[in-house]
Amino acid sequence: MSADPLALARPDIVALKPYAHAAWDPRLERLHANESPWRVPGDASAAGLNRYPEPQPQALVEALAALYGVQPAQLLVGRGSDEGIDLLTRAFCTAGRDAVIVCPPTFGMYAVAARIQGAAVSSVPLRRDAGYALDLPAIRAALVPQVKLVYLCTPNNPTGNEIAEADVLAVLEACAGRALVVVDEAYGEFCGHAGHARRLAGFPHLVVLRTLSKAHGLAGARVGSLLAQPAIVALLRKIIPPYAMAQPTVEAALQALQPPAQAVARERIVATIAERARLAAALAPLPAVERVWPSAANFLLVEFRDAGAALRAIMDAGLIVRDFRGTAGLGEALRLTIGTPEQNDRLLRSLA
Ligand SMILES: Cc1ncc(COP(=O)(O)O)c(C=O)c1O
Repeated sequence: MSADPLALARPDIVALKPYAHAAWDPRLERLHANESPWRVPGDASAAGLNRYPEPQPQALVEALAALYGVQPAQLLVGRGSDEGIDLLTRAFCTAGRDAVIVCPPTFGMYAVAARIQGAAVSSVPLRRDAGYALDLPAIRAALVPQVKLVYLCTPNNPTGNEIAEADVLAVLEACAGRALVVVDEAYGEFCGHAGHARRLAGFPHLVVLRTLSKAHGLAGARVGSLLAQPAIVALLRKIIPPYAMAQPTVEAALQALQPPAQAVARERIVATIAERARLAAALAPLPAVERVWPSAANFLLVEFRDAGAALRAIMDAGLIVRDFRGTAGLGEALRLTIGTPEQNDRLLRSLA
């Protein structure tokens, strides 16, 4: 098959004539988009909430591209990584025919987006006995022609481990000309790995997902970046809703990407990593705890002797954690997000 990843896309999307949104030219006064000419009282935004936002806000795209070390044409900004997952699924999977590969236990939206689109979900479980490493022979065996997207999450949610660099490369090699490899690095800032965006030039079928929701503290603003070769970005721009990025979000993200805010984000990443180590070391010897899995993210996957009892104790302390009991491949597991030192102390007291 061709090395052109657009050969993998839905031909009807490749041929689609996108919606023509109102032209963007800030030098001219806008009488072309049927907006109100007046701001609402209390609107303190820079651009005015009475105006439609810039479709792919150039300043934000440039700031994110600098943050992730890619060219602006290699980046699509959307409403969280979730939007990138949704767009990839819709652009590459024909309903009733195509499929995606997921490696559970992993982030649930890959499979949900596929099912919404009517694409099949082929599951190749991670190897619990090998610290939740990829099962490479099984991925190769599952790589039938219908598979258009292969999702790798590193560090993986909810297990917390990184996927070995050699394994990511092996999947990239196996998928060349056959499927896109989507490497989700939502927790990349917490792991010390340089990330896979630097490999975009070598692998035209690589897509990397990054987000401001975790280490950058902007989950409520919804800002995710999809990094890929320009042809893939241009294809997805055709199907993203015309004014996806709300103006308050754009302004909040630009603010968060300024050097002073970035310095604070870096300090908090260091603090989170330190708290992760402290929490893991304090949890491991507790009688209630069966196992603390090593984590390269901002959470810990912890197996308890009785996860129900642990959950009740944690909730009695006024905290909520994620219940993963009943998830295939996980035992009596809860996922604990690293909080402030005070919250982490309270969590530990509740389990002691
Ligand atoms: C692995 C992973 N990918 C993507 C997301 C979605 O992130 P966003 O807030 O950018 O949509 C999450 C959120 O929990 C996640 O854990």
